[in-house]
Amino acid sequence: MKLWLKIALLNVSIVAGLGILIGLAIRDTVISSMRAELTKQGLSVARNLSDRIANFILLDDFYKTQEAIDDVQKTEKDIEYIFATEKNGFLFAHTFRNGYPPDILRWNFIALKKVQSIQLLDTERGFIRDIGVKVFGDMNPELHIGIREEGITQTLRKLRNLVITSTIIATLISSVLSFSLSRIITKPLYKLMKFTHSLSRGEFGRKIEIKAKDEVGELSDTFNNLSHELKLYREKMEDSYKQMLRTEKLTALGRLSAGLAHEIRNPLTSIKVLFQTFRDNPALTKEDMRVVLSAVEQMDDLLTRFLRFARRDDFNLSEVYVNSLIKQVVNLTHFQIKNQSIDVSLNLSKLPPVKADRALIQQALLNLVLNAIEAMPHGGVLKIFSKLDHDRIIVNFKNTGAAIPEEIKDKIFDPFFTTKGDGTGLGLSIVYNIINLHHGNISFESNEKETSFTLNIPINA
Ligand SMILES: Nc1ncnc2c1ncn2[C@@H]1O[C@H](COP(=O)(O)OP(=O)(O)OP(=O)(O)O)[C@@H](O)[C@H]1O
Ligand SMILES: [Mg+2]
Repeated sequence: MKLWLKIALLNVSIVAGLGILIGLAIRDTVISSMRAELTKQGLSVARNLSDRIANFILLDDFYKTQEAIDDVQKTEKDIEYIFATEKNGFLFAHTFRNGYPPDILRWNFIALKKVQSIQLLDTERGFIRDIGVKVFGDMNPELHIGIREEGITQTLRKLRNLVITSTIIATLISSVLSFSLSRIITKPLYKLMKFTHSLSRGEFGRKIEIKAKDEVGELSDTFNNLSHELKLYREKMEDSYKQMLRTEKLTALGRLSAGLAHEIRNPLTSIKVLFQTFRDNPALTKEDMRVVLSAVEQMDDLLTRFLRFARRDDFNLSEVYVNSLIKQVVNLTHFQIKNQSIDVSLNLSKLPPVKADRALIQQALLNLVLNAIEAMPHGGVLKIFSKLDHDRIIVNFKNTGAAIPEEIKDKIFDPFFTTKGDGTGLGLSIVYNIINLHHGNISFESNEKETSFTLNIPINA
């Protein structure tokens, strides 16, 4: 449940609860004070009447007694009945028009030595308060007046309606007020919450606009500073990361150029020798031409590969989908694959994008696929498999064919190490460097049956 709704509901329930409690308290106070008042009035009417009829009862004057009680019932409202008993305790006069109830004398019996008794009777006609007084001290004749509590009931009904209406109105007003107030209070909090979500998504440098001068305002200022600092920090990190990539690349280039110079010396020497011969004997044979051409081609090939690696002095980091690159590389080598009757099987799991240089990764994958194809000149099986392992991507290339001999296993990543007549030996060293630049690693296994190379690249290099 949203915070503003909770606050509003809490307010509304407090107001409604208080309304009900206040209503109940008022009701109790009003009931008891009204009942006390009614009893007081009833007693005074009973006492007056009892004084008036005392003589008539003494003289057994039924008519005068009846006249007096009828008189009082007519003038006093809320009186349901009046009855009086005579000296032997029998009913003497009463106001019941259609006969009196048989158990009337047991309704509110006045105990011996008592001069009065008050009893609340629950009758078919509602609550009736019977006020009984003895006419002569503690002698038998009694006078009973039944007073209806209808007045109290009506007042209570009115009071209840009033309390309910005012509670409803107060609840409505308080709900409108508390709904809008809690929205006002919690709105900046929601803004802050959204802002922290955006921070956790890495959207640094944004600002939150809360003008309040309270704790929330202070908190938003802190968050703005934090966001700004995080942005600066990330920019610094990216700078140093780029710097690092550049340094690594330079080291790799240094190593490569040393090898390159060494490799170029061989074809250059053969050309030099040929040209020295040419100086003494200017007739150049077709065979000589072929040697020069092949030497030049060899150098050209070396330089092209070297330049391809060296030219890119800026790493172009983007979101790279490795699976789609694998498919592209397989397509690229489709001709060789078909020519050498190689079976390719892809087993690619769903992978998130990797933050990497797309062209470099493609180059690395291509070199590995080319090596695998070259290792199976008479056909075989190439299995490429990819999967996600926590925050790293695993790509594995497995090809059948001759094993990598034990004695060259620690050399295959060296630049210019090759066992192929037409190879440059740069392929794996380039793969090694590329994977290194992306903070990944490469490993391989080779036995009589198959050779497999595995790349392990972090998603956020
Ligand atoms: N999949 C493989 N199966 C067997 N041997 C391999 C495999 N990959 C590499 N090698 C061995 O490692 C050596 C070095 O490979 P690298 O890719 O660096 O150079 P190359 O393939 O010989 O030449 P280049 O790739 O420059 O044309 C290869 O000559 C080969 O002997
Ligand atoms: Mg190769």
